[in-house]
Amino acid sequence: MTDYQKSGLYKWGGDAESFDKDEPYIELVTSPNNPDGYIRKSIVNRNQGLLVHDLAYYWPQYTPISSATDYDLTLFTVSKSTGHAGMRIGWALVKDREVAKKMTKFIELNTIGVSKDSQLRAAKVLKTVSDCEEEKSENGVESFFKYSYRMMEQRWKLLREAVDSGDLFSLPKFSSAFCTFLNQESETQPAFAWLKCEGDIEDCESFLRGHKILTRGDRLSTIQTKQQQ
Ligand SMILES: Cc1ncc(COP(=O)(O)O)c(C=O)c1O
Repeated sequence: MTDYQKSGLYKWGGDAESFDKDEPYIELVTSPNNPDGYIRKSIVNRNQGLLVHDLAYYWPQYTPISSATDYDLTLFTVSKSTGHAGMRIGWALVKDREVAKKMTKFIELNTIGVSKDSQLRAAKVLKTVSDCEEEKSENGVESFFKYSYRMMEQRWKLLREAVDSGDLFSLPKFSSAFCTFLNQESETQPAFAWLKCEGDIEDCESFLRGHKILTRGDRLSTIQTKQQQ
């Protein structure tokens, strides 16, 4: 992203785990992380650092909402809350008013106005989720997030059964925790699966495509090699 924008003001400084420079930096913390689904914390923790927390997947159907967050700058997107990809609408909680103003200007210049269709669609999606939460408390209807949690649970169960039935692949193991939103013990069940090839297959992406399963191979990530999303 930084290379793409060709900014003279900042450049990609590498993976946070290996960052050891004594200079100003911005650390982007994606939690739950894409693509492995794990909860992440900032790890550089040096002076002169700014943190940006991307909580795109911090929704109760994917991960237990275990505590309130209180970061300087937090990013969210509508798309992951309900699975409506492509709207490209999100929001940010920003403590510093001046930073917020600059972000607003950046969005204005960068997008030349956010698509009206997307805005209407996002408003409709968010209203439906919100109405459903209200109905739940009034009529005992299952809330959108509880329903989505159950759906994700069923899908992960089927996927784990399929993967466990052979020796070729493995999936990450996740811990559970109390979700203060759903008011229950919840599993982490990411919106994507980080599948690891355990066998001799060199190119898992092609191998799976040959079986009509579309995945995205790991070419950029520094997490681990030979994995598919
Ligand atoms: C971690 C993370 N943050 C942000 C986004 C952006 O989401 P969108 O462009 O759908 O708003 C994505 C999309 O995949 C993502 O995985």
